[in-house]
Amino acid sequence: MREVSSAYTVSIHYDRRLYRQDIAGSIAHARMLAKQGIIAEGDLSAIEQGLVEIREEIEDGSFVWRAELEDIHMNVERRLHEKIGDVAGRLHTARSRNDQVALDVRMFTKDAIGDILGGIHDLRAALAGQAEANADVVMPGYTHVQRAQPVLFSHHMLAYFEMLGRDAERFRQAYRRADVLPLGSGALAGLPYPIDREFVARELGFGSISRNSMDAVADRDFLLDFQAASAICMMHLSRLAEEMVLWSSDEFAFIRLSDEFTTGSSIMPQKRNPDFAELARGKTGRVYGGLMALLTLLKGLPLTYNRDMQEDKEGFFDTFDTLLNTVAIFAEMLATMSVNAGRMREAAQGGYMLATDIADYLVERGMPFREAHGVVARLSEYAVERGVQFEQLTLEEYRGFSSLFGEDALSISVDSSVAARDVPGGTAFGRVRQAIVEARAELEAENER
Ligand code: ARG
Repeated sequence: MREVSSAYTVSIHYDRRLYRQDIAGSIAHARMLAKQGIIAEGDLSAIEQGLVEIREEIEDGSFVWRAELEDIHMNVERRLHEKIGDVAGRLHTARSRNDQVALDVRMFTKDAIGDILGGIHDLRAALAGQAEANADVVMPGYTHVQRAQPVLFSHHMLAYFEMLGRDAERFRQAYRRADVLPLGSGALAGLPYPIDREFVARELGFGSISRNSMDAVADRDFLLDFQAASAICMMHLSRLAEEMVLWSSDEFAFIRLSDEFTTGSSIMPQKRNPDFAELARGKTGRVYGGLMALLTLLKGLPLTYNRDMQEDKEGFFDTFDTLLNTVAIFAEMLATMSVNAGRMREAAQGGYMLATDIADYLVERGMPFREAHGVVARLSEYAVERGVQFEQLTLEEYRGFSSLFGEDALSISVDSSVAARDVPGGTAFGRVRQAIVEARAELEAENER
């Protein structure tokens, strides 16, 4: 029983991931204390030396983690004491675990966002690469998973480029919110020492310092921002995953995923299961779960720090790992996927997708759109009954439905349909080529940052 109850409060098995941030934060804090004359210069050297060694021990695997010390902060502090004796006790002057843990998690979040942004960048580059390599490939565009209007495959790829661009923007925003130094807030009320918070912020690369000590130790909004941005990004990836599952099926056969991202079945040798795409779709659940768990844990917490907040980390780490892996896998999966242009065009030519174009043709010749819509509905019915496509109808047949049809109605095609969508944001060949150029420039500008 004793053992069960003490294990309940332990977090070291996951918060040890914060060791680098914890040690960097402690070094910056100690430097500030010495600069302000709060601790002696000699104490600073001992503390700094000890902390650097502890970091090495952790990295070479010789550090002994102790569950009875509960968390990363106590494990490091105890080890420092073993190394340098009572001087270690001076490090925690003008600091509380409350502002310390807030600092560590903010620093970790900033690093995590840097990694995620790198991953999103690579994935967007892969999307732009596929768009470029298949710039003029025509495919059916869908609504309700029904063939709707012909579009360019490149246009479809760049739709995801846009979605992931918004994700990156959300992460950059989350970064700005994480980039506020909480250290110097103490347990909750501020500190009765002449500390220099701006100095610590500069040492640790924070953009600003928190303005309210109570908020600083109670706030986990930056984690919510991260979790929310991650949940939306996973939702986007899950939509893309779903398309890859559909497109790689025999029914569509629009793409072929490389062997690396499919698995065979043990009993059905013909199968190429898109397991990676499916798992990405499935892992979206745990990322949503992380967001829900954090919202729920923070709800109803009175100011300021409450131990509940220790529960903020596992979901966060899991979300970070899941999303980072998923974007990296998608970048590879996209880059190595092959596109079956012939199949896509074939599909674009079936399914009466030129109906809207034929209606637009009549509108151009003066017919109100609603009326044109009716004419084309009757024309479609006629073609479907005979089992032919619009392209196979004769001019006489067209004219049976409206005398506005002329010879040029026969040249309405998948290509003329795509070419006609020549508006900003449309799928016309030139518009998409321009969009690819702009996508490339955007990625290039990110590289230079
Ligand atoms: N392990 C704790 C956490 O993650 C550290 C802060 C503990 N503070 C306290 N007053 N008990 O939240």
